Amino acid sequence: MNEKRRAILAAASVMLLAGASPVAGQNRLKIGVIGSGRIGGTLGEYWVRAGHEVVFSAQTIEEVNALVARLNLGPRARAGTPREAAEFGDVVLVSVPYAALPQIGRDLADALEGKVVLDTCNPYPSRDGNMAVEARAKGTGVASAEFLPGVRLVRAFNSVGDVSLRSQANRRPPRVAIPLAADDAQAMAIAARLVEDAGFEPVIVGGLARAKEFDFGTRVYGYPLTARELRRDLGIK
Ligand SMILES: NC(=O)c1ccc[n+]([C@@H]2O[C@H](COP(=O)([O-])OP(=O)(O)OC[C@H]3O[C@@H](n4cnc5c(N)ncnc54)[C@H](OP(=O)(O)O)[C@@H]3O)[C@@H](O)[C@H]2O)c1
Repeated sequence: MNEKRRAILAAASVMLLAGASPVAGQNRLKIGVIGSGRIGGTLGEYWVRAGHEVVFSAQTIEEVNALVARLNLGPRARAGTPREAAEFGDVVLVSVPYAALPQIGRDLADALEGKVVLDTCNPYPSRDGNMAVEARAKGTGVASAEFLPGVRLVRAFNSVGDVSLRSQANRRPPRVAIPLAADDAQAMAIAARLVEDAGFEPVIVGGLARAKEFDFGTRVYGYPLTARELRRDLGIK
């Protein structure tokens, strides 16, 4: 285990074991969801059901209104604009086509600054153009951090497909594992807790540079692996 991963893991474990309230003393988190499609809509739903408060958002407010009405989750769920979601959340999930990240990073920089941001976005050249080729070459942990400066970024929920996300949550253990990469230990602890609250098992891989290990094209991408299988395939002890 390298030093950076050891440090992140130790700090995140201490916070989790302490029962932690990752965001100062709160058990119930305020979560903004930017991009409420197959991934963002599903995770937001799970987190409301786990007791958190969620503002769902996308560009098309009518669709978000319809989603919130259909989910019928009560007063802890509401629809808003991406700016409202970014301002509301102590934690913000960004789950949009990769090509939208630069614009979100620019337009919402003030609202997102210093916040924990979970990034599920995967670069697909066929959908996102040339910037996706560059992002793949750099690795998403590095590329997304450039598009979202000033946030406490965590790569999360990018490697498991929406069908598994929907069908495998809270399954009988062993649960499906979600690999995580972040440079900030507190952000990592919050993400790990939100993975558990969504009904999955967090696996801390390391710093953002290691997100590359579970990007598109790796042997773990796209498979609903258990934590043991994921650690084995990534060579994590
Ligand atoms: N589907 C999967 O199996 C899967 C698994 C893991 C990761 N991912 C990745 O996670 C991301 C989301 O995937 P998805 O399948 O959930 O996509 P999706 O179902 O197409 O949903 C995308 C959402 O983002 C919104 N959006 C698009 N541009 C936006 C912008 N500029 N600002 C705010 N919201 C915006 C869309 O609504 P509007 O168009 O109305 O804004 C929609 O609500 C993608 O990068 C994808 O590659 C997908």
